[in-house]
Amino acid sequence: MSTSYLGDKTVHRVGFGAMQLAGPGVFGPPADPEAAKAVLRHAVEHGVDHIDTAQFYGPDVVNDLIREALHPYPEGLRLATKVGARRDDKGAWLPSGEPAALKRQVEENLRSLRVERMDLVNLRRFERELPDGAEPPLADQLGALAELREEGKIDMIGVSNVGADTVRAAIDAVGVVSVQNAYSILNRADEPVLRLCREHGLAFVPFFPLGSAFGGGGPTHLAADPRVSAVARKHGRTPTQVALAWLLARYERMLLIPGTSSLGHLDENLAADSFSLDQEDLSLLDAVEPVPLGA
Ligand SMILES: NC(=O)c1ccc[n+]([C@@H]2O[C@H](COP(=O)([O-])OP(=O)(O)OC[C@H]3O[C@@H](n4cnc5c(N)ncnc54)[C@H](OP(=O)(O)O)[C@@H]3O)[C@@H](O)[C@H]2O)c1
Repeated sequence: MSTSYLGDKTVHRVGFGAMQLAGPGVFGPPADPEAAKAVLRHAVEHGVDHIDTAQFYGPDVVNDLIREALHPYPEGLRLATKVGARRDDKGAWLPSGEPAALKRQVEENLRSLRVERMDLVNLRRFERELPDGAEPPLADQLGALAELREEGKIDMIGVSNVGADTVRAAIDAVGVVSVQNAYSILNRADEPVLRLCREHGLAFVPFFPLGSAFGGGGPTHLAADPRVSAVARKHGRTPTQVALAWLLARYERMLLIPGTSSLGHLDENLAADSFSLDQEDLSLLDAVEPVPLGA
């Protein structure tokens, strides 16, 4: 598998997003926790060295699965989490971005994952969902994370669900290493943010790289798209592999974290890095119609 950079750390370009390991709606435990742990172990045995998680997946469930499956962690495994959200008792996703809450959430991640330092903490903003001024000031939020970085509890800081202005401000304020926004062949709205990452050499870690499980299911839309299917047939690959290869071709610091609870899908996703799209494929795929999907 090829490598790229998350900050100054070398990681394989295909990592793993752990959100899909919780129960339905990312709420509560999965039906078969042992199967979820088998997926995690298989991922790491087959080269995954970048896992994306959050304490609010479950909540608590996914971090516990990661610890139970993988602790003590292999050398070089980078664990990335995100803070800034919480769940209510029905599973709704709510903002929780006060600086003190962010610090508490980092501590919870350290405890549940049983590590002394998080490799990467993403500040998950709600600036795209909430009216202007409804969130705590960005500088205060990043300041709280930078204090934890000073204390050695965080190695690197990233931002998530943000526009280009926030990325610029975050680069200036604390030197973020990555942006995690929704982006896929089905949703290219954040092209300007991707451009900014290229200009500054930041990693771009798209969430919903297959278009997401929500809103009708990205993989179903990918399979139905004639252009994606044509390229898949040409290379003897699946439509989801084409969608992931397209992302890899967009930027050398694009790091993938496709999420799955299935061993078969995991193997398929890991193999997306083993073939290349040519110029003819990329031109054809540029014409894929965007699909409004999401949470
Ligand atoms: N920062 C944020 O706000 C944020 C938001 C959402 C997600 N994330 C992170 O981003 C990661 C990726 O997002 P995601 O997992 O929601 O979306 P995704 O990777 O776009 O799609 C996941 C969906 O695709 C299916 N799938 C995966 N591989 C497949 C394959 N090879 N063939 C067919 N179907 C396949 C999964 O079902 P199966 O389980 O059946 O394979 C699941 O339904 C998450 O795991 C999470 O860590 C971050």
